[in-house]
Amino acid sequence: MNSLPEGPAQLASLSLPAPYPILTVEDDNYRTKTFTLDLRLNAVPGQFVMAWLPRFDEKPFSLVAADPVTLMVTAVGPFTNLLHAMGPGDSLWIRGPFGQGFRLPKFGRRACFVGGGYGVAPLLWLAKAWSRQLDALTVIVGAGTATDLLYVDRFNALQKEGEWKAGALEVLTCTEDGTSGSKGRVTDLLAYLLTSGATDLLCACGPHGMLAAVDGIGKKHGLLRQLSWEAYMRCAVGICGSCELNGNVLCLDGPVLEDG
Ligand SMILES: Cc1cc2nc3c(=O)[nH]c(=O)nc-3n(C[C@H](O)[C@H](O)[C@H](O)COP(=O)(O)OP(=O)(O)OC[C@H]3O[C@@H](n4cnc5c(N)ncnc54)[C@H](O)[C@@H]3O)c2cc1C
Ligand code: FES
Repeated sequence: MNSLPEGPAQLASLSLPAPYPILTVEDDNYRTKTFTLDLRLNAVPGQFVMAWLPRFDEKPFSLVAADPVTLMVTAVGPFTNLLHAMGPGDSLWIRGPFGQGFRLPKFGRRACFVGGGYGVAPLLWLAKAWSRQLDALTVIVGAGTATDLLYVDRFNALQKEGEWKAGALEVLTCTEDGTSGSKGRVTDLLAYLLTSGATDLLCACGPHGMLAAVDGIGKKHGLLRQLSWEAYMRCAVGICGSCELNGNVLCLDGPVLEDG
């Protein structure tokens, strides 16, 4: 297993992508696969890496895990389609990790995670990482239709694997067409849950519209909010400015921003 060296040498690796073999590829749904690489990183949930295919392009992906590095990739365009054509033994060039991940708040031990589409990727790792720190967690996994839902089984497995105390983890699905779980948007379900259940912290990752709505609902209920925002990442080290959002350089200040 390869890993970035400790100390100053690790900083050198940030700007120098290196090739790491793909170990496994799993199909998650008709357009999403999870890749594990022969690489370990020092990282926290919510951070991302840049994946490079030489002479083609370089794109950001959230870490699903850092040991070994695990990436969930939804095929939406040229880069991700090319990644989907790769398999064990092929190499992916990686630099990172980058950005700020989720931070365990000083107060509040009841959380709700909201993931839309491939936004569930960092939340699965977060649910594992905080299983001993939180008293209760509700995970809302949302998508347009049932076949687009991602990682529901993996979230449910956390309870079976004993990562969470019995009854402390609840996994809910939500689809816009009602083919799985509640019918509607994740924000409809979130708003409904917050009228009856107590939550201290909202963590969310997904499309901008979803995050803005989650932010508004959380603000209305006076909740702490940690939202992972997407932007067009190029340098990933705060130089090019392509990832600016409302005065934040997301590759450095984010992608997880606190309280919106
Ligand atoms: C911090 C971060 C973490 C990410 N994590 C993941 C992940 O875990 N898994 C995953 O599959 N993808 C993730 N992405 C998104 C991924 O980097 C893009 O989907 C990538 O651009 C796909 O490249 P492509 O060439 O296949 O498609 P592109 O041609 O780049 O894009 C295809 C379509 O997706 C839209 N699109 C691309 N990027 C974005 C964006 N940032 N925001 C909104 N719309 C966009 C484009 O408008 C276009 O319609 C992440 C992005 C960021 C910034
Ligand atoms: S990607 Fe270049 S400044 Fe953030």
